[in-house]
Amino acid sequence: MLAIIGGSGLYSLDELRQPTPLAIQTPWGTPSDTLTRGFWGGREVLFIARHARDHRVPPHRINYRANIWALREAGARQIVAVAAVGGIAPECSPGMLVVPDQLIDYTSGREATFFDGTDSKVVHVDFTEPYDASLRKALAGGCRRLGMPFVEGGVYGCTNGPRLETAAEIARMARDGCTLVGMTGMPEAVLARELGLPYACLAVVANAAAGLASSSQSVSIEAIMATLARSITDVRRLLAEVCAATPTEQG
Ligand code: HPA
Repeated sequence: MLAIIGGSGLYSLDELRQPTPLAIQTPWGTPSDTLTRGFWGGREVLFIARHARDHRVPPHRINYRANIWALREAGARQIVAVAAVGGIAPECSPGMLVVPDQLIDYTSGREATFFDGTDSKVVHVDFTEPYDASLRKALAGGCRRLGMPFVEGGVYGCTNGPRLETAAEIARMARDGCTLVGMTGMPEAVLARELGLPYACLAVVANAAAGLASSSQSVSIEAIMATLARSITDVRRLLAEVCAATPTEQG
């Protein structure tokens, strides 16, 4: 089953047929919200709103372990994570969809592993390629079939938030090779890897990152939300296309 994690601006999937709410408890605590299971494009799909449907959980307080565990418990076998980001590279302009292929983790203080040593098992997962190649291909193929402009590849830099970055932090991230900045990509991606779940990120550029282009003065949350609201229509069309095009084992 395909799981979709909704980020800022994507709080429900009203397109799901026969939606069933699933309240799941995990050994790691309670997920951000109830999950929804339903059918879309002939396949079975799971959905969770990362920040909860009323956007009350900030990025550094999300129980990423509970979210990923609950999705697997409910039958997820692959995950597409939708995430609002700031654009750093010039081609990652507001409104653009991006399918990154790498990430750099700048977060701290988050519960970032299921293997935290409490059951005396030391595990180091391979994370050379953080995003699943075939899911990335499915997203890119969907964009192409729909004639939707998008950027294939890129480096997602994950900051802790909830504050936005300084201009100097973004300049450093650009030197590091980051093309995007967001606050939720980690540890979400590595937790999926630890459970063996293929995971890809569909990033939606909401704004130019701090100190760049129109953000040279300041980043406006109102402008971010307005851009996201427009782009989420494209995200829904793309997810519908991907669901219709990818075979399902169960649904
Ligand atoms: N920085 C970090 N996270 C974000 C941004 C940003 O500029 N825009 C949307 N999410």
